Amino acid sequence: MGTDHQPHGLTVSSFTIVSWHPHLVLVSIDHRSTSYRHFAVANSYSIHVLGDEQEDLSMRFARPGEDRFSGLAWTPGSTGAPLIPGTLADFDCAIVDRVNAGDHTLFIGEVKRAASREGRPLVYFNRAYRRISG
Ligand SMILES: Cc1cc2nc3c(=O)[nH]c(=O)nc-3n(C[C@H](O)[C@H](O)[C@H](O)COP(=O)(O)O)c2cc1C
Repeated sequence: MGTDHQPHGLTVSSFTIVSWHPHLVLVSIDHRSTSYRHFAVANSYSIHVLGDEQEDLSMRFARPGEDRFSGLAWTPGSTGAPLIPGTLADFDCAIVDRVNAGDHTLFIGEVKRAASREGRPLVYFNRAYRRISG
């Protein structure tokens, strides 16, 4: 949630588990993206792992110059970060550290709540969306 009280977000592939105790994750965000300035002052963020039928959601959150939450159902999590229903997994995180790394910043979050459901994840590899078969 931004200081403008509007939700902001972007598609990332840089989501990584960092630590189990405490349970820490990170996302790496490009300083040139419009999302960066919102993350720079935020106290929390949420991560959503997309299912293989949610390519449209990934493209929506990667397209520049769009109100990405427009018309989308979401609710605030315990940290205040926006949670979108119907994804494969979600993590509600408090930002506990920021580490500058070249032209990106690593936003380290402590997971306050996580949920998941069964399904196949959407995969992005070699500039294309892929599906895991089997
Ligand atoms: C599959 C995929 C993965 C991406 N991963 C990242 C990422 O890890 N970090 C990042 O800053 N941008 C990433 N991007 C780019 C952003 O989603 C977005 O397009 C970019 O930030 C421009 O939007 P903005 O300036 O409005 O934030 C990714 C885009 C795609 C399609």
